[in-house]
Amino acid sequence: MLELRNLRKRFGSLTAVDGLSLALRPGEVFGLLGPNGAGKSTTISMMVGLLEPDEGSVVLHHDNREHSPQHAHVRAMLGLAPQSLAIYDELSAIENLRFFANLYGIRGRDAITRAQNALALTGLSDRAHDRAKVFSGGMKRRLNLACALLHRPRLVLMDEPTAGVDPQSRNALFDIVRTLQADGVTVVYCTHYMEEAEKLCDRVAVVDRGRLLAIGTVHELINAHGGPSELVLEHDSAPGTLARSPVTDPIPELAAAIAKGGLRSATIQRPTLENVFLNLTGRSLRD
Ligand SMILES: Nc1ncnc2c1ncn2[C@@H]1O[C@H](COP(=O)(O)OP(=O)(O)OP(=O)(O)O)[C@@H](O)[C@H]1O
Ligand SMILES: [Mg+2]
Repeated sequence: MLELRNLRKRFGSLTAVDGLSLALRPGEVFGLLGPNGAGKSTTISMMVGLLEPDEGSVVLHHDNREHSPQHAHVRAMLGLAPQSLAIYDELSAIENLRFFANLYGIRGRDAITRAQNALALTGLSDRAHDRAKVFSGGMKRRLNLACALLHRPRLVLMDEPTAGVDPQSRNALFDIVRTLQADGVTVVYCTHYMEEAEKLCDRVAVVDRGRLLAIGTVHELINAHGGPSELVLEHDSAPGTLARSPVTDPIPELAAAIAKGGLRSATIQRPTLENVFLNLTGRSLRD
């Protein structure tokens, strides 16, 4: 579908993307997970042909041939919802959509139908005639995404789609991702929120300082790099005090603790992608 081969991008002395190789599979939701400055947006810009790599290449597989994203006809297969919102505050939602439809060469009745469909998909139909500037952060993000979907791309790249978004709009965005996937669209989902990667993505690439640290399903990543689970016990003798111990196989340990008696509460905390990142880098994913 789309492949990155040893991709490298420098800004002066800073190497933002440092030899990144990976291949997207058709129809998957692929997460790019990394902290601020990891090189996610730079990678996305090269994926869609907005930035030229210094080294390496981006290859789009289409019609049994390899293409560069610089080619207009393969670029039309891509839709980007950029991290910095690309919508016009002074235009209404429907005007924004019709403007972008025109850029894609979609006009007349077709432009209106597609704009209406995009509004429906993103839950903005009843706000069609309101100017974007009165929209909440979440509504702006949804409109930003709607603009990227008008030309029915086969690969949609969403860069931090939940930045500045309220919980309701976040859930709406998750639903849109699932709808796109059900339609066979491949999605690249860029985020520094591990919960979103865990919830949505079929596979995740963990990136830091422009490098790929690990790639796989969430389950694979946690198994390989998450470390042990934690058994958290609270004893009747010391209410409010939680005793934590790392355990490789928590179920028998828990059973033993219960058999011993005197427990007030017990939980098993499985490792998360946060542990994966911590174990791979020695740092937390969060700022
Ligand atoms: N046009 C540019 N000129 C100079 N430096 C840049 C430019 N674009 C990005 N950088 C630098 O490259 C590094 C990677 O930036 P990038 O925006 O790709 O990271 P990111 O993973 O998207 O981060 P965030 O989570 O904050 O969006 C950062 O150190 C950034 O400051
Ligand atoms: Mg970014």
